[in-house]
Amino acid sequence: MPITEEQVQSPLSADLQAILRCLSCGSELENDQAGGYQCPACKRTYPNVQGIARFVDAQHYAASFGFQWHRYQKTQLDNDEVRESERHFRMKTALRPEELKGKLVLDVGCGMGRFAEVATRWGARVVGIDLSAAAEVAAKNLADRDFVAFQADVFSLPFAPESFDIIYSVGVLHHTPDCEAAVKALDRYLKPGGVLAVWLYSGYNKWYRFSDFWRRYTHKMKPETLHGILKVAVPFFYHLERGLRRVPVVGRPVAGAVHHVFPVNRQKNPEARMLDTFDWYSPRYQSKHTYEQVFRWYEAMGMEDLRIGEFSIAVRGRKPSRRG
Ligand SMILES: C[S@@+](CC[C@H](N)C(=O)[O-])C[C@H]1O[C@@H](n2cnc3c(N)ncnc32)[C@H](O)[C@@H]1O
Repeated sequence: MPITEEQVQSPLSADLQAILRCLSCGSELENDQAGGYQCPACKRTYPNVQGIARFVDAQHYAASFGFQWHRYQKTQLDNDEVRESERHFRMKTALRPEELKGKLVLDVGCGMGRFAEVATRWGARVVGIDLSAAAEVAAKNLADRDFVAFQADVFSLPFAPESFDIIYSVGVLHHTPDCEAAVKALDRYLKPGGVLAVWLYSGYNKWYRFSDFWRRYTHKMKPETLHGILKVAVPFFYHLERGLRRVPVVGRPVAGAVHHVFPVNRQKNPEARMLDTFDWYSPRYQSKHTYEQVFRWYEAMGMEDLRIGEFSIAVRGRKPSRRG
């Protein structure tokens, strides 16, 4: 479901343009005629398509996310009544409004922009990158904010070293082929004294065993086909489980077994239930992690002041300030 209307993000401010770098030779980039960028040194170009500068040539393995965030553009976006994404952002990054205010922040894997919405509401200037076409949705959702989206890959980011005060990535890096390398890749873009906060799927609770089993097959389906199947399967298993729970004596254990073998999300809102279930079964990569692992990665980067968030696996750490 492509976004058809032309979306044009405001031109980049001079200080943001100054941190953009060519992926091939590392030179500063210049604007081209069509709203994209070009490298004056090696002549590589980065086109602007539908208002978004593209630093990748395709969505690669993340196409299911492009579909997902175009299909569910606002489902998880906070509004005046609902502050669910803000609650998740606090628990999964341990960041607070006073830390973000006035800071230049990188949102890695911004999806449709729900956490960038929170960060900009808290007064941050946010650059969001996403490998998939979700970047288009984020740009549209946050058109009135201090936000710019690029389609780019965490393993090849178009930024100068030490550009950002804060980098966060929520629910993203476990969807890459190498989560450890993805976390460690971010250190380079953080200013000395800056904070890196990541949230990854937990490997402690093994509830996902069966969804991982089914995902071996489901991730190979076209997103449209999988979505069509889940449109039937999610309400079926959700209501079957609820019905079974009402059966005396055996109902609850049988309902538990059904949920274990055919896990579907249990949120009350049917749209959120569909979105989160699709998000479990569609990604090609979905690794799980422990605090021991992630602390080791942070220590290997020389990070200090390591803290955990309230929702595992949430780790934040500070890059040491320059000494002397
Ligand atoms: C589960 S979604 C999370 C989106 C958002 N952070 C949120 O929580 O709503 C994972 C996102 O990571 C993006 N992603 C996966 N691999 C990536 C990569 N190598 N570089 C940048 N983004 C990536 C996907 O396109 C997708 O939008």
